[in-house]
Amino acid sequence: MVCSHAWGSGIPATVVAAVDINTTTNQIYKHNFPDTPLWNKTIEGISLDAFDKLPFDMILMSPPCQPFTRIGLQGDISDPRTKSFLYILDLLPRLSRPPRFILLENVKGFESSSARDCLVKTLTQCGYTFQEVMVSPTSVGIPNSRLRYFLIAKLSAETQSTQRSKTPDAFTPPAERASPEQLTDSGPLRPEEDVEASRVLYKQETSKDAQRKTSQNNDLSVRRIRDFLEPEVDEEHFLLPPRTLLRYALLLDIVQPSCRRSVCFTKGYGRYVEGTGSVLQSCEGTEMEAVFRGLDSLCDEEKLQKLSQLRLRYFSPREVANLMGFPQSFSFPEQTSTRQQFRALGNSLNVEVVVGLLHRLLSL
Ligand SMILES: *[C@@H]1O[C@H](CO)[C@@H](O)[C@H](O)[C@H]1NC(C)=O
Ligand SMILES: *[C@@H]1O[C@H](CO)[C@@H](O)[C@H](O)[C@H]1NC(C)=O
Repeated sequence: MVCSHAWGSGIPATVVAAVDINTTTNQIYKHNFPDTPLWNKTIEGISLDAFDKLPFDMILMSPPCQPFTRIGLQGDISDPRTKSFLYILDLLPRLSRPPRFILLENVKGFESSSARDCLVKTLTQCGYTFQEVMVSPTSVGIPNSRLRYFLIAKLSAETQSTQRSKTPDAFTPPAERASPEQLTDSGPLRPEEDVEASRVLYKQETSKDAQRKTSQNNDLSVRRIRDFLEPEVDEEHFLLPPRTLLRYALLLDIVQPSCRRSVCFTKGYGRYVEGTGSVLQSCEGTEMEAVFRGLDSLCDEEKLQKLSQLRLRYFSPREVANLMGFPQSFSFPEQTSTRQQFRALGNSLNVEVVVGLLHRLLSL
């Protein structure tokens, strides 16, 4: 949780406390914001009294998301990892001066969790008006899918003057509120039926996948991958090793610099291949279909020889950071390994998406 964020947002604000318990993440934060008070704590480790002593107008938070993903088996509020989230909900009505603004992020699926229902109930009781949206970076022109749930809430005017709970505006369920465009972008959590929908083409790609990619690449409101690449990247260093090419070639999501799309980067990027993020075809002159056609019937050596023509590589951490909307001023401390950088980025939010939502929140 950070209280109001000025970083590149054009919003004049001071962060009064940044709270996280993760050592790596805290090192990265400290490196970029040496003057911001950083509390190495869990949320539930902070007392009501400590919150009351802190002058803040805004809470930005991303409660642990494992319980709400499929991988987390939908444990939902019975899952101990939701503890910090429930603690905040318990705290909010008891604060002597509740924050005027709240922004909360979570994974797709949160919108239909019981944790979300608790959140909405608490906000309503405390006199907040709010909006829920599903947003992907493509909506701000960034060629990366990362569909996430966001809730922005504002203490309603009467509540602010009386500091008492009032009935807020009627609530519109997220499905009706979010625009269809925002909801079509599906990132890595594609519904089951999509995956099995149609026949496999030359790679393990269905015609539906191919159609989606083509239409994404034709969306001129989204910039090209090229704009997010490092000019001087050490290409060799990020090339996919032969072992990975042989084993996973058909599962890779491959993009070219001219593309206007990439799939969601997760914390396993650079280590695991399937569903962790796109890889880049750095040799644009090679035709992908020609490489993949008839690949199955070749021996390993021939396969490798063909696949290496594409010069497939991982995006560098800096390039992933660019696609995550991080400003140029952002950097990693020297001691953060590449693997840690990918892990931290994979758990991060898209900065430009948050900036857009902050502006919307402040104009509510
Ligand atoms: C932060 O807290 C964790 C867990 O309590 C501890 O292991 C770590 O050393 C602390 N880091 C710093 C910088 O104090
Ligand atoms: C710290 O964060 C990184 C990346 O966000 C994650 O991979 C790692 O598991 C976390 N460590 C702990 C102790 O939670």
